[in-house]
Amino acid sequence: MSQFNKEFIFGTATSSYQVEGGFNEGGRSLSIWDTFSRIPGKVFNGDTGDVAIDHYNRYKDDVQLIKELGVDSYRFSIAWPRIFPQEGVYNEEGMNFYKSLLVELLEAGIKPMVTLYHWDLPMWAYEKGGWINRDSVKWFLEFSEKCFIELDEYVDSWITHNEPWCSSFLSYHQGVHAPGHTNMEEGLKAAHHILLSHGEAVKLLKEKLQSTTPIGITLNLTPAYAATDSYNDRIAVNNADGYTNRWFLDPIFKGSYPLDMVNLFSNYVHDFDFIKPEDLKTISVDCDFFGINYYSRAIVEYAGNTNLLYNGAYSDYKKTAMGWDVSPREFKELIYRIRQDYTNLPIYITENGSAYNDVLEVDGSIHDQERTEYLEEHITAVRELNDEGMNVAGYFLWSLFDNFEWSFGYEKRFGIFYVDFETQQRFWKDSAKRYKEIVRTRTV
Ligand code: FCB
Repeated sequence: MSQFNKEFIFGTATSSYQVEGGFNEGGRSLSIWDTFSRIPGKVFNGDTGDVAIDHYNRYKDDVQLIKELGVDSYRFSIAWPRIFPQEGVYNEEGMNFYKSLLVELLEAGIKPMVTLYHWDLPMWAYEKGGWINRDSVKWFLEFSEKCFIELDEYVDSWITHNEPWCSSFLSYHQGVHAPGHTNMEEGLKAAHHILLSHGEAVKLLKEKLQSTTPIGITLNLTPAYAATDSYNDRIAVNNADGYTNRWFLDPIFKGSYPLDMVNLFSNYVHDFDFIKPEDLKTISVDCDFFGINYYSRAIVEYAGNTNLLYNGAYSDYKKTAMGWDVSPREFKELIYRIRQDYTNLPIYITENGSAYNDVLEVDGSIHDQERTEYLEEHITAVRELNDEGMNVAGYFLWSLFDNFEWSFGYEKRFGIFYVDFETQQRFWKDSAKRYKEIVRTRTV
């Protein structure tokens, strides 16, 4: 049985709004998620991230748990409204929180991977148009520059954006995430400005600040498969892939948007002038690694009555509590394709994990057999990929803790540590124990 080499990075991941809480502490202003979660019907059970798992106040203990888990790295994100609570107004107290967290991690021997944007856009920016406004690039750069200047010395690697598909299409086109708009043109503009801000931030770190800290972007990629081999379903799979994957991969790695999708979108959007010719050069700036979040495959069928001509189709795969297919084989196929069509950069799996309905036993144990199998299967896939020379440099399990799962509130538990949301007590699930063993032995 082959082992992961010494350089391979095992980690876990969280994001600011999902774990921090302290929504009005330390000079933080409101983000779009504070507002959105208060709109009745947007989040399951009316849950909000006001308290979340109180990581803002418990971070020291949490870092000790990460240390006990034995992972090499921890991926977290910075809440923009802690750093710039108002436009142009810097909040040192907010920055100090992240400095303390970083120092704590470094003292525990854990490498910090830091995401700048994991969806908590400040309300002040939203009120000026949010990601639909091209000025968002400027605002994001001001935020990024401050983070780079203050934190670069502590950070092991930077991620500009987490899952632009979610912060643009899911948020501005489908309305499922904050700010909850349902307009395709807005979705496209948001996606473009987010990608542009990524390119500009990378240039800022490398050129202006002359930093050598590795930087990249994380995309959520969902390989799409056709329900049948009918001609119709082949159209469906093309469009699903274009909307979720190629619309982001192509500009980043090829410096162009896929024209089949431009044609399809042009049924709803009549002016693409928000894309300036020089933008694509910026978006395709050289990075040091590529981050992929992988959860599941998609299976789709033709649906002539929908905007993009496809819908999700029935699949007989075993499912997580999210209803997502457990699909480690398709995970491998995705990586082969990235290698073939897009890039040779080192790949980090910056998120992978599963939600299940966990039961906390009276003795404090949680026997999450299915999650344990899910992680074993996906880590095995990574090992096999590396045995085939695919250069996956690291794997970050989502998530370290049960937390605020966006529109699902606290209902869906992704953690390898169980959190009792009443008492804020953390418990080791069996999957955490298993992950600890995998990391220690570097074998699955
Ligand atoms: C990803 C998000 C992450 C978490 C997982 C389950 O899309 O990046 O915050 O919600 O899904």
